[in-house]
Amino acid sequence: MEAKCLHFFMDKIEGDFKGKDILSIDQLSVKSLSKLFHTTDKIIRMLKKKKHFKVLSGKIITLLFFEPSSRTFGSFASAVKRLGGQTIEVQDVGHNSSVVKGESLSDTIKVFESYSDAIVIRHPEKGSAQKAALAATAVPIINAGDGTGEHPTQAILDLYTIYQKFKRLDNLTGLIAGDLLNGRTVHSLIKGLSLYKKNALYLLSPKSLGLPTELINNLAKKIRLVEIEKEADIPTDLYFWYWTRVQKERFKNIGEYEKVKNRFVITPELVIKKGNQHMIIMHPLPRVGEIDPRVDDDKRAVYLKLQVPNGVYTRMALLTLILSRL
Ligand code: NCD
Repeated sequence: MEAKCLHFFMDKIEGDFKGKDILSIDQLSVKSLSKLFHTTDKIIRMLKKKKHFKVLSGKIITLLFFEPSSRTFGSFASAVKRLGGQTIEVQDVGHNSSVVKGESLSDTIKVFESYSDAIVIRHPEKGSAQKAALAATAVPIINAGDGTGEHPTQAILDLYTIYQKFKRLDNLTGLIAGDLLNGRTVHSLIKGLSLYKKNALYLLSPKSLGLPTELINNLAKKIRLVEIEKEADIPTDLYFWYWTRVQKERFKNIGEYEKVKNRFVITPELVIKKGNQHMIIMHPLPRVGEIDPRVDDDKRAVYLKLQVPNGVYTRMALLTLILSRL
């Protein structure tokens, strides 16, 4: 691959993913997402027919996780291996690597780019994926969550799940609930939905965990955002509910976390009271009490049944478009 130059950094993708970093949903357009979804559809069809398409054969992908993860880590590992590629898996980087000896992020990236064809990174600091992309000169960087910043591949799977269900991503009204301040999946998903016309979102969170003002200001012209403070204000005609966990690890004071942790919980009773027949109930997982397990058997609950498998399929599509072709 050609050396990456500075202007390449945070490039818009416009349907051409080859060799590109995936750092933020801001890089994607409707055209890019359509291409990604089309490739995902194709991959699902091929998997169903048990067709082999080892398009990553001979490629090595480093999974560099500085923050705990089992879902996203496993999902990327599965995606690479299903495509015939191999992984270098470094988890708990802060404890199990030269980072303990004081190595900088930039040096870690420079080392692993010699070992592999792409690096997937998760890191507790907002902006760290961009830093990694600047350090890498020859391989693409994929952001698997940078602190309270973004989680673009989660948003891609969330958008795909909504698209799969409603066959469109415009003219939809949904609810996003939980920790909207610290939840990076929510930041990326709202940006993604704002690319499409006439979407509206009700935002339900404890007052202290509202969507960052900067994000509200940036998105206000593109998507209708309505902040609400109690379950009673949830409209009954929504297309999706997207619930999230309060992000304990982002709190300096655990007492503050305890006060807000399970303020909003989905129960079968809430679904009966405020839900409707066509809606879907989503969650990026892991959940820690904000969805009553009795809701899991409801056919509208898609967090385990659709979002999890879609995570692997969309990541397979993304890796294929960045590193190969179908
Ligand atoms: C999310 C994350 O790490 O941001 N989980 C995930 O990637 N599946 C959500 C969360 O941790 O709450």
